[in-house]
Amino acid sequence: MSDPIVLGVETSCDETGVAVVRGDEVLSNVLSSQVEAHARFGGVVPEVAARAHVEAIRALTHRALARAGVHPMDLDAVAATRGPGLAGALMVGFSYGKTLAWAMSKPFLGIDHMEGHLFAPRLEGPGYRPPAVVLLASGGHSQIVHMPDWGVYEVMGSTIDDAAGEAFDKLARFLGMGFPGGPAIDRASEKGDPQAVRFPRALADRPFDLSFSGLKTAVTTFVRTHHRAGTLPPISDLAASLQEAIVDALVEKTLNAVEATGATTLGGGGGVLANRRLRARLSEEAERRGLSLHLPSPVLCLDNGAMVACAGVFRYRRGERTPWEAEVDSSLRLGS
Ligand code: KG4
Ligand code: ZN
Repeated sequence: MSDPIVLGVETSCDETGVAVVRGDEVLSNVLSSQVEAHARFGGVVPEVAARAHVEAIRALTHRALARAGVHPMDLDAVAATRGPGLAGALMVGFSYGKTLAWAMSKPFLGIDHMEGHLFAPRLEGPGYRPPAVVLLASGGHSQIVHMPDWGVYEVMGSTIDDAAGEAFDKLARFLGMGFPGGPAIDRASEKGDPQAVRFPRALADRPFDLSFSGLKTAVTTFVRTHHRAGTLPPISDLAASLQEAIVDALVEKTLNAVEATGATTLGGGGGVLANRRLRARLSEEAERRGLSLHLPSPVLCLDNGAMVACAGVFRYRRGERTPWEAEVDSSLRLGS
């Protein structure tokens, strides 16, 4: 059987993504970022996001099909993110994808956004396969997932407060570095000393769980105290030090999960996996431990339509179909 061709639509947050994927091969992957629309508010505004998806989605779909050289009738299925995410934003892509599929009498697949992130490493070539431990870290979620088989997920650990990307974003905002904060801190850290300030690493007694609220308090207290005393280190040192604290926590808890499961494959997904320090640290550790590491390229770590299409190919091949009456689920949980 030839590889199925699936259109993937992603609108869970502030990126409109549409892509065409054949099997595990990306034929096109187009994005419309709303970063500028939200930057002046210092965060994602749900109503603004939904509106921007409506404005972008039709043209993006045409572009994705044209770039792939695929006629809509050649699609085997249409996949769209069902959740988790912002309800209004999700509804735009989900309804659009469902309508498109219905009009063409094609199968429709509602996809879990986090499963999309879990599947993204497949788009970078062969070798990524279960059993694997996968670190998922984005603006809305931080989870360490054991995947004994495709489509089977055991969430081993997650954050008890802020997601890792949220921590980057909040701290960058506090430091006046703009939105989104992750890329700003990543860039500022380049010339900084990660050992300049030792910020706390939380939850030593919980091997797989994460917490970033203590770090947030530690950084804000440190900055206020040292600002008053005129002893504040350069912003590059602050950025590198807080980045190191977040990266340390993510790497340590992920490796604990690798050890506990005996997995030899390690994957990653979500916007925070675009972080250069995190990628370098995971590479070092994977090499040292003989793990097969699979991190998507940064553009496939961030929200995109290709990962949704990729998970759609998997679900389509299994004969699954999402009923027409299905609705979005803004608090969808992995594996449910
Ligand atoms: O996966 P994603 O695009 O959207 C969500 O599903 O949330 O992730 C966005 C998050 C934001 O919090 C952003 O600050 C963070 O990923 N991020 C980064 C980097 N690039 C994006 N965090 C650290 N370093 C980066 N280079
Ligand atoms: Zn995401």
